[in-house]
Amino acid sequence: MSNSVDDTLALGELLGRLLAGGDVLALSGDLGSGKTTFIQGVARGTGRDPGAIKSPTFVLMREHRGATTLVHVDGYRLDGPVEAAWLDTELMFGPRRVTAVEWAERFNGLLPEDHLDIHLEHVSANRRRLHATATGPRATALIEQWQAARRAAQPPDAIADAAEQGTHAAGD
Ligand SMILES: Nc1ncnc2c1ncn2[C@@H]1O[C@H](COP(=O)(O)OP(=O)(O)OP(=O)(O)O)[C@@H](O)[C@H]1O
Ligand SMILES: [Mg+2]
Repeated sequence: MSNSVDDTLALGELLGRLLAGGDVLALSGDLGSGKTTFIQGVARGTGRDPGAIKSPTFVLMREHRGATTLVHVDGYRLDGPVEAAWLDTELMFGPRRVTAVEWAERFNGLLPEDHLDIHLEHVSANRRRLHATATGPRATALIEQWQAARRAAQPPDAIADAAEQGTHAAGD
C-alpha cells in the first residue's frame, strides 16, 4: 500500500535499485493511479533524475541513456491494443535495457515472457494499492528481493505502528 506520492516514489526507487538489463516492468491501472510516479521512483533507483520521466505528450517511447538504458513506454495515446508491426521491439527491449511500460495491457503478447506486472489501484485521494505479479523466474526473484528491501527500509517505528493497528507491515 502507498499512502502518498512519496511512498510510491520510494517503492519505485527500491525496485529500481534491483533492476538490471533485460528487466521489464509492465504497469497497469486507471488514469492517475500512479504509474508515471512509480516509474519516476524507478528512475531515481537507477541513479537518474526522476524529473526526466514525464507524462506522455504524443510520444510512445522515450530512452534515458546510461550504463543500462531506461526505456519508458507509454500506451496512453493508443486507442486500444497495439499491433506488433507498429513496434520496434529491438528499441523497446534488450539485454542492456530496462523497460517500464505504462498501459501494459495494450501490449498484450508483445512483452517478453518473463516480466513483472505491477497493477496500481486508486483507493482514495492519496492512497494507492500495488499488486505485483511475476510471469517468470527473473520477475519472481525481483519480487522477493523487492520485498526484502521494503522490509529493510521500513523504519522500526512503522513496523510497530502497523502491528498495533493489526495491519501487515510487509503487505501489499
Ligand atoms: N499514493 C500516491 N501515489 C501516486 N500518486 C498519487 C498518490 N496519491 C496521490 N497521487 C496523485 O495521483 C496522480 C498520479 O499521477 P500519475 O501521472 O503518476 O498516474 P498515471 O497512472 O501515470 O496516470 P496516466 O494513466 O494518466 O498515465 C498524481 O497527480 C499524484 O499527485
Ligand atoms: Mg502516466
